[in-house]
Amino acid sequence: MKTLHHIFKALREAGDTGIHGTEISNNLGISRAAVWSHIEELRTLGYHIDAGPHRGYQLIKAPDILLADDITSQLQADTIVGNTVQIFRQTSSTNQLVDQMGLGGVAEGMVVFAESQTEGRGRLGRKWLSPEGKGLWFSLLLRPPLRPAEMTRLTIIAATALARAIRETSGLQPSIKWPNDILINGRKVAGVLTEMSAEPDRVLHAVIGVGVDVNQEQEDFPDELSSVATSLRIESGRPILRSDLAVALLKALNTDYQRILSGQFQAVAEEWESQCITLQKRVRIHQMNQICVGFAESLDSEGALMVRTPSGHLERITGGDVILEKEPHTP
Ligand code: BTN
Repeated sequence: MKTLHHIFKALREAGDTGIHGTEISNNLGISRAAVWSHIEELRTLGYHIDAGPHRGYQLIKAPDILLADDITSQLQADTIVGNTVQIFRQTSSTNQLVDQMGLGGVAEGMVVFAESQTEGRGRLGRKWLSPEGKGLWFSLLLRPPLRPAEMTRLTIIAATALARAIRETSGLQPSIKWPNDILINGRKVAGVLTEMSAEPDRVLHAVIGVGVDVNQEQEDFPDELSSVATSLRIESGRPILRSDLAVALLKALNTDYQRILSGQFQAVAEEWESQCITLQKRVRIHQMNQICVGFAESLDSEGALMVRTPSGHLERITGGDVILEKEPHTP
């Protein structure tokens, strides 16, 4: 039994009513002194917990830290995503760490957060800046019953879940640029890096890496990023509690992963499409060795982007960097 997980659960469920130390100690089978000592431990970490003779303990405010027991206590008991959560002060890259866990046989659902990364990876071999305490940098291990060609589905559900969680937590209105960039007012606030280990016809494990710029201020971004990147704090004008966003994100990812498992990818794709700024636009897509120019018509059933080229051919795009062309265009 993870005592802190249950204490957090009790405090959060009690809300404004509060909960007596005796009740927690009876439910957990530990002494009242032990409960008190755990509460003191949480206060040392910055949790504001009131105590009174009539209403007992009451959680008033959580600090801006990531604590595994606090996060897991807010997830459903039967969740896949976040069934185990680990938090590191610093790591090279959570994607790298979780990939190693996948190769080592760790069960799906494991989520690893880092307060900072020294070698954060972005798509297309780019670096991902991950300054301490400013954002959410985490990776999720999944073992989806998918073929390698269907992996874009995971990127689509991750982007959809990410946009929904950001909307719920901050009130902002993010949009999605295919396949996985989350933009607010035209600037990037979050991204997803999906990697996999696979055999020719089945995925062995997938790592969904998520990076969200949460509490940076304008001066925290280097010059080369300041016109293209933003944070939730800059856009909303207020700091956002990262743990609230983390919980909303893991819940949203779990909902959408369950939708894939129960054959409802189409419903996720429709939600994705309703927020996507790439469809029905003229696009230029930079891929490894070529550039594809055309009109982004739709997503196919595996999440690939269907682009009508000037010659009238429908090209199926599974990766690359999309640039939206300014001029309206009809195919
Ligand atoms: C992108 O290029 O848009 C994808 C960025 C993904 C960054 C996240 S941060 C957590 C995880 N670990 C990494 O090294 N990368 C991903």
